[in-house]
Amino acid sequence: MRPTLNVISHSEDETLGLAEKIGLFFKPGDVIILSGSLGAGKTVFVRGLARALQIDEELVNSPSFTIVNEYLGGSIPLYHLDLYRMGDISELNELGWDDYLQRGGIVVVEWGEKGGDWLPLPHYSVSMRIIDDTQREIDIQVIDS
Ligand SMILES: Nc1ncnc2c1ncn2[C@@H]1O[C@H](COP(=O)(O)OP(=O)(O)OP(=O)(O)O)[C@@H](O)[C@H]1O
Ligand SMILES: [Mg+2]
Repeated sequence: MRPTLNVISHSEDETLGLAEKIGLFFKPGDVIILSGSLGAGKTVFVRGLARALQIDEELVNSPSFTIVNEYLGGSIPLYHLDLYRMGDISELNELGWDDYLQRGGIVVVEWGEKGGDWLPLPHYSVSMRIIDDTQREIDIQVIDS
C-alpha cells in the first residue's frame, strides 16, 4: 500500500489551493479519481486543478448531462468527467473512455469509483469526506494495484 497524504481542509479556498498546488505536479496522461458524497468538494477540487493548468476556473462545472467536459485552453488539456448519473459501465465505452486516456491530457473523474475495473493503473485517488459545514478530510493516494 502506498502512503496516503491526509489533510483537513477548513474552507473551499483551502481545497482550491490544495488542488492547485497538487495540480502543478500532474502530467499529461495522469488520471485522478475523485470520490466522496454529494457536496464533498469534488468540483471545487477540479477548479483548483484548472487554476494550476491556467484554465479559467469559471468554466468548470459538473458535466451532468454530457458526462464529460473538455477544457482545452490551458497548458495541458483537462478532461472532466462525472459518473454520478452513469447508469451502466458500457456508457464509459460509448463516450470514448479509452480515447480520453490516450489524448495527452489530464483526466479527472467525479464519482470515479463507479469506473470499477475500467480505471487504469496507476491512477491518483482523491477521497473527500465531509466533517462539517466547512471542513473536509482529503486523502490522496497513488493506486497501482
Ligand atoms: N473545505 C471545503 N472544501 C470544499 N468545499 C467546501 C468546503 N467547505 C464547504 N464547502 C462547500 O461545499 C460545496 C462543495 O460543492 P461541490 O460542487 O464541489 O461538491 P461535489 O463533491 O462536486 O458534489 P457533487 O457530488 O454533487 O458533484 C460547495 O458549496 C463549497 O462551498
Ligand atoms: Mg461535483
